[in-house]
This record gives sequence, structure tokens and C-alpha cells, in this order.
Amino acid sequence: MAARSRRWFLGLASTIGYAIAACRSKTPPPEPSALGAPVGPYGSRSRFERAVRFFSRAAVPEETSSKTPLHETFGMLTPSSLHFERHHSGVPDLDPAAHTLTIHGLVDRPLVFSVDELKRLPSVSRLLFLECSGNGNTEWKGGAEPTVQRTHGLTSCSEWTGVPLSTLLNEARVQPAAKWILAEGGDACRLGRSVPLAKAMDDVLVAYGQNGESIRPEQGYPLRLIVPGWEGNVNVKWLRRIKLLDQPAMTRWETSKYTDLLTDGTARQFTFEMDAKSVITRPSGGDALPAPGPYEVTGLAWSGRGKITRVEISADGGRTWSDAELQLPVLPIAHTRFRWNWTWSGGEATLASRCTDETGYVQPSRQALTAVRGVNSNYHNNAIQNWKVAANGTITNGNA
Ligand code: CO
Repeated sequence: MAARSRRWFLGLASTIGYAIAACRSKTPPPEPSALGAPVGPYGSRSRFERAVRFFSRAAVPEETSSKTPLHETFGMLTPSSLHFERHHSGVPDLDPAAHTLTIHGLVDRPLVFSVDELKRLPSVSRLLFLECSGNGNTEWKGGAEPTVQRTHGLTSCSEWTGVPLSTLLNEARVQPAAKWILAEGGDACRLGRSVPLAKAMDDVLVAYGQNGESIRPEQGYPLRLIVPGWEGNVNVKWLRRIKLLDQPAMTRWETSKYTDLLTDGTARQFTFEMDAKSVITRPSGGDALPAPGPYEVTGLAWSGRGKITRVEISADGGRTWSDAELQLPVLPIAHTRFRWNWTWSGGEATLASRCTDETGYVQPSRQALTAVRGVNSNYHNNAIQNWKVAANGTITNGNA
């Protein structure tokens, strides 16, 4: 791998030699002289940066989402300011001094925690991706969106910090009849989702921290349920109540929404785990390659079932594949950055990535996925994404 990289780099020096020469002919920038800005209380990015979340003009608080600019993020983490959003009645303005979490239902000892009380308990931090199960829903019927932000921007990766839910449930003394929890948010629609008790006791967090500071309001401030590897919607924001039940609550968000309609008219329900998925983020739809030559191909892979073990890249529409390098460490249930050195010969090409997770599951083609699921669902599209490179270097959605 290292030898291949070195050869590729030597090729880079010769093929973009003209670009280096062009740089030499320009006037170098002036030496810095004026004093810069002083220290400040809270950081902000350079005024020259332009990466923003995407949302349609029609977005309204009752039914809205915004998408992460995956094309313009690097490494494995998503800045909190660019984390995707999906909510159903707007972002509530909650005062942590007044907010509480109630645990009740089939417990011997109902409990109410303040946010400060939760912060006194033993905490855990984990880097985890969080993906809306509707991510990629534009692609079922083929290539409707022009950029990776618009096809795949409903996934982000953060470090989440909080208290294991099992700690709180053990304090409340769950009764033997309890088999599910209902987690309810403090937004106007009282978004609520049912989660099996086994998962709730396994690795679920009641989080108050995101990327080293308090969770952003649009991500659930002051408390969010973090359910590792499960669809974004069950990671209930603005968490205010957990009720222990002997069966699922059958809320609106697990019946009319977040169920997966199949071709025979039946629907899959409680499809929680996010299947392994990958996408090339750069170069991708909307880019224009300026000239034949070497390009780094990079993107993200993730699985709700554990670690990514392999990412393969094809530049010929899936006829041949070769292994990409994975950024270390590879963490379970986290975005995994992959990189591959490509030399574009100048002709038409189709770029695609295909990942494998530690269960041995391999990301399917769109044809293989739709053969099983049809094209009626809004959710859980984890198919391979193709980017079509034209002979003039422009890149478009290759699923069309
Ligand atoms: Co689902």
C-alpha cells in the first residue's frame, strides 16, 4: 500500500508540474504586518468559509430537516454546527434549570432527575454516527438529487457524553413485566418512540454533552437519548420522560411514520438498526475535475452493527474493485473515513464505494436492494451510490 502511494505521489509531482509552475509565476502574498484580532469568549470560523447545512426554502418548523455538507467536512467527526437536523415541531427553548427527566410506569420507584443531578452520576463518552432512517430516500427511484449533501447529508458523527440509561433504570427498579420503554421528547409534538428494554439496558445513554460542550438546542438540549446504531428518530431529543411498558406504545412515529412499506402492501415495523453504508464524498456530484491526473477519492462508511472492516472503490461502474485505506482507529458504530488514490485518465468513469462490516454484511447495489424492498419505502436505503464522471470532468448523480 505504501509503495503504491509513493508511486502515485511521484506521478502527482510530474502531472501537476504545470500547476506548481503556475504558482511560481504569481506574486507571493505580502508579509503579515498588522496586528491580528485579540482573544474572544467563543470561537467562530473564518469569514472565508462557506460550508452550510442544506434545507429547502419550503422548510417549516412542523416538518423540517437540514443536511450536513459531507463534501466539505474532513476526517470522521461532524462539527456540531453542521450536524444534520430533523424534527417535527421545531426546536424548543428549554432552560436546563427547569428541565427534568421522569422515569415511571412499570418500576418500583418512580424517579425525577434534574439535569444537574444527572451530571453528578458516572458518565460515558462515545463517538457514534447518527443517521436519519430517511437518509437516501431520494435515491429509491434513482438519482433525483445532484450532490452528496442532498443524497446522504442526514448522517453525522459526534462524541456524545452522558449517563448510561441502565444506571437510571436500575435505580428505579424495573418490574419483571416491563419489556419496552417509551422515550418522550419535550417538543410541542411530544415525539415518542418505543425501544426494547434489552437495548435500553445495553448501551443507551442519556446524553448532555456533544463534541465537548453541551448538546446544541437543535440536537436536543439539554438531554437527548442516544441509542447507538439505531435510526435517528429513536434518539429522542429534548428527553423528558421514560415510561416502562409491557409492550410498545405504538406512537404515530412508529406506525404511520418510520415504517417501511413493501411491494405487497405490508410494512416492516421497528426496523431500528442502520445497515452498513458508504458514500464517496469527494469528488462527488457537482464537482468538476479540472484536468486528467491524480485525485484523492475519499468518503465515509458506517454500520449500526459494529465496525467497518473493508471499503472497496470502483471507478468503472462496479466491474472492478480495489481496497481503500481506512483512517485509524476504526470505531464501532462511528463514521469511518476512507481514502483511495485515483488517476483519472480523462475518459468517462463511474465512481462508487462498497463497504463491509464486522458481521460480514456487504453493502448492496440499488438493484439488489430494491429487488427485496421495492421502491415504496422512505426509509433504510443503504445502497451503493454511483457518481458519473463525464469526459469533460463534470460529475453527476450516477443513480439516474
Ligand atoms: Co426503521
